[in-house]
Amino acid sequence: MLINCTLNGRDTAIEAAATTRLSALLRETLGLTGTHVACDEGVCGSCTVLLDGSAARACLTLAGQCDGVAIETVEGVAAGETFETIADAFLRHNALQCGFCTPGFVTTVAAMLRDDARERLGDAEVEARISSVACRCTGYLPIVAAVRDLLGRDR
Ligand code: FES
Ligand code: FES
Repeated sequence: MLINCTLNGRDTAIEAAATTRLSALLRETLGLTGTHVACDEGVCGSCTVLLDGSAARACLTLAGQCDGVAIETVEGVAAGETFETIADAFLRHNALQCGFCTPGFVTTVAAMLRDDARERLGDAEVEARISSVACRCTGYLPIVAAVRDLLGRDR
């Protein structure tokens, strides 16, 4: 099928089988390898992208669901205004080590920062959103600290 979508801000038409996973489409067909894949079954969050502005698992999204959708990958976030701020906070708080999980956090955090209701997000909600991405290196506390910093909260 022909999928007409917006990909990282550009109108894009992609020919793909409707049942292709979005993660495979991004990485293997479109060369957008910043979207990482680990579990491939919706658990780890490494493949998190933004669909119409909301964080979503690319490995659980089928190409056929993306017609008419605005898809933003970590490459799109990296080209935007908030990326430097996110990267600075992650570096300052040592919130990454091997970096495998980082694209999933960057997209998840970008969605949080763009959320008009971010000021009203409770600590539990912030931590729940962060915990949607698995990190095997950092122990999470530096990531929580970076995100709290980004949201302008006391640590
Ligand atoms: S690769 Fe998609 S959630 Fe793990
Ligand atoms: S920094 Fe290595 S998995 Fe998170």
